[in-house]
Order: sequence, then structure tokens, then C-alpha cells
Amino acid sequence: MALVTLKEILEDAEKGGYAVGAFNVVNMETAQAVFSAAEEERAPLIVQITETTIGQPGKVTYTPLEDLMGIVNVLAKKATVPVVIHEDHGRSFLSCKRCVEAGFTSVMRDGSLKGDGKTKTSIEENIEETKKVVEYVRKQSRYISVEGEMGTLGEVTDTMTQEERKSLLTQPEDAKRFVEETGVDALAIAFGTKHGPYRGRPIIELDVIKEVKDVVGIPLVMHGGTGVPPDIVKQAVKLGIRKINIDTQIRMAFERAIRELMSEKWNKYIAEMEETLELGEEAMPPKYDLRKILGPARDVAKETIKAKMRLFGCSGKV
Ligand code: 13P
Repeated sequence: MALVTLKEILEDAEKGGYAVGAFNVVNMETAQAVFSAAEEERAPLIVQITETTIGQPGKVTYTPLEDLMGIVNVLAKKATVPVVIHEDHGRSFLSCKRCVEAGFTSVMRDGSLKGDGKTKTSIEENIEETKKVVEYVRKQSRYISVEGEMGTLGEVTDTMTQEERKSLLTQPEDAKRFVEETGVDALAIAFGTKHGPYRGRPIIELDVIKEVKDVVGIPLVMHGGTGVPPDIVKQAVKLGIRKINIDTQIRMAFERAIRELMSEKWNKYIAEMEETLELGEEAMPPKYDLRKILGPARDVAKETIKAKMRLFGCSGKV
């Protein structure tokens, strides 16, 4: 199955009334988990690489873009489901340009924050920065989708004033202006979700989805999908969310599995050692085999991803 753009995959989701899962990958095992989950579920797939994994141009943080892209490309070529290769949270024009040059079919220009990833920008600055990327991709010989973001991702709390809530959540009139002036293909909105797990049940402002959807004609994106209760996810999809980002939950599944496998291994070793010492024999050190740790952890991550695909309604769609 050929690589597709975000625009195409989300148009189908809009027609079908479901959301497509967008899963972050950081290495071969997480990429394999994501691709095999999509194959087993017959689900369309958005595979994401975020800038904090590959770093800004010229400064690698964890893995060079070419290394990770090499793995993702091989898996995408083998895939029999439609695949979007998407850049998550591009913090600069150059970051997006580099991903386009590397063969991504979609990029996100997150102009809601400055390059430091912390300081909020004005709507004018966000529009200007995002537009620059849209204009650049429209000059390319192939279609590349652009996702933009309006509003500030973050937890809504009971103690917040109306003003504080308003400054966090996406305002429909801002979203309308942003989409009209930038020409983005998809829009990430702020309605109470945040990256990483929540403390207790999150306060999710579902009305924002409907209000924004009514005034913009493009698919809406939920960031911070980890830990959003299933009933809320279902309502959000019903109201018009078409892409749901999941990163932390894959890491949690992987790390938890590794921790359990490691402690099982060491407990077994200690028990054996105690036994052999009783017999006066020398204890055998445990075997060191990464494959026996990473392989099962990859399977656990795959099952977590499959469950998300079913929840989002994209299983069995291809
Ligand atoms: P989580 O880490 O909360 O799953 O969010 C992922 C995300 O939104 C990536 O952009």
C-alpha cells in the first residue's frame, strides 16, 4: 500500500465517522509494534516522529532522523494498510523542511509555542509561522499535508477562573481565522487534553470540539490521548475528532513490560543462587539477551496500540 497524506487518510475518517490513531515511534521496536498493530487490526496508520526524538536540525537528541526514517520507510514499504509518515510538533520552519526532504507525507508546524516549546505565541505569530510551512509544501511536486495548532494544550482544573480557561482552550473565532489564513489540512485544538498521564479523571471540554468544527471545514486533532477515559474518547470522536495522538501510553506499556521482565529475571537468578549456595555450588550468572526483553515488551506495546485502534473506531477500515 502506497504512502498517503494526512489529508487523504482523514477525509476517509470524516466520511466513516472514526478517528485514526497517530502513534509516536522512537526506535525499531516501537516502529515494529505500531506497524504490526495496524496490519493485525486492518487499520489506517499515522506513524509520527517528534522533534524531541530527532532534535532540531544540526542537533541530534536521541536518534538521527535518517536512521529512524530508514526503519520507518522499510516498514511502510512492506505495509498493506495506508500509512502517513507525519512529523509531530515541528518547532521551526527548518525542522518541517528537513522532514519534507526526508520523505514525510505530512508535517506539523506547531506555532502555538515559540521554538523553546514553552512560551506562548500570539495568534498573528502562529499564523505567520504556519503559513510559511504551508506555502513551502505547496511548491513541492507531491502533496504534503500540514497540521497546525490553535490554543494551548493543558489540564483544565476546577479552580481555574473563566479567564484562565479561555486563555487555554481553542476559541472558535481564532480557529476559523487561523484555518482561513494558513490553509492547513488539519487542526490540533486545545480542549483540556495534555501530554502525559492525568491526575484523576481529566476535565475535558467537549463543547469546544463542536463549536470549532462548526466553523472550520477541516479535520480536528486530539493531542495528549494517553489517559483520556474511553467514554470521553468516544464522545470526542462522535463530535468530530479525526486524529488522536498517542505517545506516553506506548512508552508506559514498553517500560512496564521491561521492568517486569527484568525483575522476573533477577528474582529467578537470586532464587537459583540461594539454592545452589545451599548446595555449596557456584551460582550461574543470568544470561544477557536483549532480545528476550525487547521482544516481549514490543508485543505488549503492540497489544496496547491495537486496543487504541479499536477504541478510535479505525480497526477493520482497510
Ligand atoms: P501523549 O503522550 O499524552 O500520548 O500525547 C501524545 C501527543 O499528543 C503527541 O503529540
